[in-house]
Amino acid sequence: MRVLVTGGSGYVGSHAVRELTAAGHQVVIYDNLSTGHRFLSRGYELVEGSIDDTDALAPELQRVEAVMHFAASAYVGESVQNPRKYFQNNVISALKLMDAVLASNVRQFIFSSTCATYGIPPVIPITESSPKNPINPYGATKLFFEQVLSAYSVSHGLRFVALRYFNAAGAHASGELGEIHDPETHIIPLMLKAVLKTAPHLKIFGTDLDTPDGTCVRDYIHVSDLGSAHVAALEYLARGGESISLNLGTGRGTSLRELTNTFHKLTGLHVPHVSAPPRPGDPPMLYADPSRARQVLGWVATRSLEEILFSAWQWQQQLEGAPALALA
Ligand SMILES: NC(=O)c1ccc[n+]([C@@H]2O[C@H](COP(=O)([O-])OP(=O)(O)OC[C@H]3O[C@@H](n4cnc5c(N)ncnc54)[C@H](O)[C@@H]3O)[C@@H](O)[C@H]2O)c1
Repeated sequence: MRVLVTGGSGYVGSHAVRELTAAGHQVVIYDNLSTGHRFLSRGYELVEGSIDDTDALAPELQRVEAVMHFAASAYVGESVQNPRKYFQNNVISALKLMDAVLASNVRQFIFSSTCATYGIPPVIPITESSPKNPINPYGATKLFFEQVLSAYSVSHGLRFVALRYFNAAGAHASGELGEIHDPETHIIPLMLKAVLKTAPHLKIFGTDLDTPDGTCVRDYIHVSDLGSAHVAALEYLARGGESISLNLGTGRGTSLRELTNTFHKLTGLHVPHVSAPPRPGDPPMLYADPSRARQVLGWVATRSLEEILFSAWQWQQQLEGAPALALA
């Protein structure tokens, strides 16, 4: 199929683009490069533009059969400091994108949603029917947009898959692309930067939480597994699949201590860290029940925590221009 990929020059979108082309699909990337990078779209057609520019989108939508919408502002902390930016980009601009989509013949749509739509879940692992109570503006914008998609699927015959990612992590096996955010707020790059001494010691927020070892538990999913889920979602819609929201996680919770210990086992290197008080509103434990995605899409995450850390480490060293450190 031919797919317009908004945000295809960003971290998750650029990996999905590789999975799409590997599966024989054709891709047009649409990105304003606000947080993305031109080099991540090297070798692909990149149309530079914003998702609120319906005139620029119209001719691109004529060339495709489906849209994958990654473009968004995606920092939880920033969304608390500057919610206007988040409602503007993730809701108002995204509604413009939908205007352009509804004015075209495209009726298949895949959306990057997030586990932040759940807020603090009452039961772990999190299933799709868990209550949706986002605790920050970022999560609220994503939940709102899922509701937009549900409404438009009733009124306009749109069919969508909203994919609620847990913690995207790792880098592409080619070594050509990986995680790159500025500022970096994600835990694995921060950990690797602490090892490379290009960032302060890793802060471990909470060491006495209600988790098996007292540190925060998250569901880290390899970014290429997210990419393959997007391919599966596209093919599901092409088969006539109905609109649905699905968790994308491994179903395995990993504590922060387990993360640093696994990295040590893999490389022989210690992660310099300091303990800090827990962050208010930060749930101690979040991991997915991914069984619905398996049933509906026939998809499962296949890459291990070791593969996530190994690929991220290779990428981070390259990014920082560090001398290749020997891996154990
Ligand atoms: N990284 C994660 O762990 C994670 C987890 C859950 C959900 N998500 C979602 O996945 C998507 C991608 O996240 P990411 O980590 O790759 O972020 P990213 O910042 O690397 O990528 C976002 C891309 O969208 C582009 N963009 C932003 N606003 C735009 C606009 N108005 N018009 C055109 N392009 C625009 C940026 O230039 C960038 O290339 C986002 O929707 C995010 O909310 C990410």
